[in-house]
Amino acid sequence: MSVNSDKIRELCQLREKAKMGGGEKRIDSQHKKGKYTARERIAMLLDEGSFEEFDMFVKHRCTNFGIEKEAYYGDGVVTGYGTIDGRLVYVFAQDFTVFGGSLSETFAAKICKVMDMAMKMGAPVIGINDSGGARIQEGVNSLSGYTEIFQRNILASGVIPQISAIFGPCAGGAVYSPALTDFIIMSKGISYMFVTGPKVVKTVTGETVTQEQLGGASIHASKSGVAHFVVDSEEEGMGLIRKLLSYIPQNNLEETPLVATTDSVDRLEDVLNEIIPDNPNKPYDVLEVIRAIVDEGEFLESQKLFAPNIVTGFARFNGQSVGIIANQPKYLAGVLDINASRKAARFIRFCDAFNIPIVTLVDVPGFLPGTGQEYGGIIIHGAKLMFAYGEATVPKVTVILRKSYGGAYCVMSSKHLRGDVNYAWPTAEIAVMGPSGAIEVLFAKDIAAIEDEAEKQKFIAEKEKEYRDAFANPYNAAKYGYIDDVIEPRNSRFRIIRALQSLATKKLTNPAKKHSNIPL
Ligand code: HXC
Repeated sequence: MSVNSDKIRELCQLREKAKMGGGEKRIDSQHKKGKYTARERIAMLLDEGSFEEFDMFVKHRCTNFGIEKEAYYGDGVVTGYGTIDGRLVYVFAQDFTVFGGSLSETFAAKICKVMDMAMKMGAPVIGINDSGGARIQEGVNSLSGYTEIFQRNILASGVIPQISAIFGPCAGGAVYSPALTDFIIMSKGISYMFVTGPKVVKTVTGETVTQEQLGGASIHASKSGVAHFVVDSEEEGMGLIRKLLSYIPQNNLEETPLVATTDSVDRLEDVLNEIIPDNPNKPYDVLEVIRAIVDEGEFLESQKLFAPNIVTGFARFNGQSVGIIANQPKYLAGVLDINASRKAARFIRFCDAFNIPIVTLVDVPGFLPGTGQEYGGIIIHGAKLMFAYGEATVPKVTVILRKSYGGAYCVMSSKHLRGDVNYAWPTAEIAVMGPSGAIEVLFAKDIAAIEDEAEKQKFIAEKEKEYRDAFANPYNAAKYGYIDDVIEPRNSRFRIIRALQSLATKKLTNPAKKHSNIPL
């Protein structure tokens, strides 16, 4: 046996040891909790056999609390690169079997290394989180490690896509790395995110809550809006990340690759000619409109359960990836409120940062009135949406399906916020406010002067009809060129594709500045 073969055997043995993370018992315990290990997760995520690991032999350097007697190869995080559908991605997966996936100085350095590589190469970073937070024995070295990661998240924002999967606990300051990334995916039953856990909550506020109630997947999907996607299993989560990446370019200087489609460009959808109900107060499902016009009816909805009065997500038109923003008349009549404004603004900014054209479908009665909204700062949050649309330089195609009233008309990718191609269906109603509100303002004295109730209602109905005839149509806006054309609903797919094709060479830059001051 040569010296070389001894050395190779040693290497193989060390590799096997490193692959066992915190050992068989802890791997079994991980499986018993219904969770996969870090390496199993990476294998599920990446193209088969594409993973190249970095820093497998890294060990921690801490000597506090006797931890120097316990050290594992890899130190609790598996890092490296591989491909998804043949495209380069960098990954890190926290290994709960080593000190509960807690973050040490060396653990952080491993993550920073892949993030730096991803920035140099212009490739996405995917982080799989499953951790007890800061490694307690490491003290401030753990905090500094976290902060080095946060700083990289911040600098990478808008340069390379960053995706976070939460497949275990993610608590304390650790939540801020995922929060700084573009998309967060949580899995039901195993994912938890909170700044302070149930015990601290009980001590500080007296409130009794479970982990699930405080920061489970469903809560963050519906109440806080922290999670963009919720999945039932890790397998589904990995499939979702792969799908999500298919709509996104590698970095801010690239375009998303075209995806071949057999869906015809000029497919007519007769059902759209009938989709708007005769009664303007009756809802319909805007998702039906979206599915009818996009390639193969495929739509990847982001933040589905949060602020459902606005819909955001990715789809394709003739193979070209787009971000869709649509008011949803099925929920709160599609009104714009604080959460809807925040949700859509962030989505628009993601699309704009990564050269993804924006298609907006408008059916909005206005901003939601009331003290709840005003005290919560609807002025600032609504301004965010306005800012995001106005700042965006990617191609912007807008179709007004029905209502487009007041400030909401201005905000929803109007011509005046540099909408490139703005269409309306014949059912569009574009005015300062809805008929009933307008008549109450314009004819308050006349209405008050009519004593007979039946006469009063007749007068109001007549005036509302007058107003509707004058304003509840797209032709007033079209008269001024604010609408480029009034289109037949069934032609929408064709007209949007044509518009997007014409905008493919769009060049628009904002004035040079350090950065804008978006109303936060
Ligand atoms: C060191 C840790 C650890 C930590 C867990 N472990 N968390 N070691 N530092 N933060 C170790 C445990 O000692 C145990 O070691 C193993 O990981 C698994 O932990 P268990 O408790 O047995 O697992 P489980 O019952 O599933 O509970 C998981 C848990 C719990 C809910 C995450 O471990 C926990 O509450 N940990 C502490 C969480 C925490 O308070 N972290 C600090 C947050 S503050 P053995 O040897 O038995 O396998 C923070 C600040 C960051 O993170 C600020 C950034 C700016």
